[in-house]
Amino acid sequence: MDFSLSEEHIMIRDAAREFAQTELLPGVIERDEKQHFPKELIQKMGDMGFLGMMAPTEFGGGGMDSISYVLVMEELSKVDASASVIVSVNNSLVNYGLAAYANQAQKEKYLSKLTTGEKLGAFCLSEPEAGSDATSQKTTAIDKGDHYILNGTKNWITNGSSADYYLVIAQTDKEKKHRGINAFIVEKGWEGFEIGPKEQKLGIRGSDTHSLIFNDVKVPKENRIGEDGFGFKFAMKTLSGGRIGIAAQALGIAAGAFELAKNYSKVRKAFGTEICNHQAIAFKLADMDVEIEAARHLVMKAAWDKDQGNNYDISSSRAKLYASKVAMAVTVEAVQVHGGNGFVKEYHVERLMRDAKITQIYEGTSEIQKIVISRGLLDK
Ligand code: CAA
Ligand code: FAD
Repeated sequence: MDFSLSEEHIMIRDAAREFAQTELLPGVIERDEKQHFPKELIQKMGDMGFLGMMAPTEFGGGGMDSISYVLVMEELSKVDASASVIVSVNNSLVNYGLAAYANQAQKEKYLSKLTTGEKLGAFCLSEPEAGSDATSQKTTAIDKGDHYILNGTKNWITNGSSADYYLVIAQTDKEKKHRGINAFIVEKGWEGFEIGPKEQKLGIRGSDTHSLIFNDVKVPKENRIGEDGFGFKFAMKTLSGGRIGIAAQALGIAAGAFELAKNYSKVRKAFGTEICNHQAIAFKLADMDVEIEAARHLVMKAAWDKDQGNNYDISSSRAKLYASKVAMAVTVEAVQVHGGNGFVKEYHVERLMRDAKITQIYEGTSEIQKIVISRGLLDK
């Protein structure tokens, strides 16, 4: 067993670390306050190759492995989880979904633009009445021969207003339940496609989250992904990989908060000494470190499983379940280590604590991860 990173892995990790410090850190508090992520910064992430990491090189992607991807996700998330969710959705939901299941023409038309940052993607599964219970899709796509007519509402869509291409899951045949669901590529600007107002959020406030409304949107048949009825499996298979990205995001949030807490504890004095010399604080740091390292092993194992071609349904859910719990616990402790300063924006840990919470909710709540893991263990 070899735990060492290759030279390429170290290079891409260091590039992401540098990018996070120079490009993401300077405006992170303002982006959180204003709930805005500038387009130019998305393009910069594209220029760095962060938006097409694992996609095949023939479609403009980096052709990298999942280990590289989680290293980048961790580094970006240490500083700005709003930036990293853009990277995560575009790479592991949209690009992967297209690279793995779209046909050649769809890949040429859509994937090749999504890998470079020229266009941005969104993944649209959730609805007001179909969140965890994702088979209960109410959005319909009615087959009209050479096209479908799409009607319904999606909610909570990341990159909701900034995306150009949307992978939309919809019910095409109610009788067939989850086997009557399909996935479609929908373009921004198509008649009848409306973007709802931006959600006002607790965390990842830089990331734009919107409802999407479809009123008789005409979707050409060639924009359906895969065979008729493949949409629910498409969503589930794609989400298995997506959960590795979110697990890495959670890991990064925890690691970022830990680094801030450790550094602070070495300079802040109380009772005549740096607070790290009080065992209560030193032991907190030790506990945080162990939890983060355990989470990192699960994240790396899930990424490794994917790279090896192993089944990664359980390992990705395990990683997400655990790393998100660690992100929550570690960020709360990081605020505690900072005392009153932990409660104000300029010290960053309060934002990381707010950002951590979403990792227990999106791409399947912690309860859903336990369903996936337990069903997998019990062969259900
Ligand atoms: N791979 C392939 N097929 C799968 C699968 C997988 N990992 N998981 C399930 N399926 C298939 C099953 O085999 C079954 O098909 P067949 O009957 O043909 O065999 C079908 O899907 C239905 O499966 P279940 O009976 O297990 O379905 P269920 O209703 O019990 O739900 C669930 C399963 C795991 C709870 C699922 O609904 C789920 O994952 N819910 C959470 C939804 C979610 O994660 N949403 C995230 C939205 S995207 C997002 O959040 C992005 C972001 O924030 C940034
Ligand atoms: P519900 O399903 O209503 O769950 C409520 C509670 O009940 C949760 O605690 C849940 O775990 C629990 N619960 C539900 N069913 C069970 C069960 N069977 N057993 C035990 N407990 C259960 N979705 C997208 O499609 N695309 C996106 O880009 C996207 N981005 C998002 C960004 C943000 C900021 C947010 C908040 C959400 C986003 N989502 C996105 C939606 C997200 O995936 C859902 O919120 C999530 O899957 C939970 O669904 P729900 O909100 O409807 O909660």
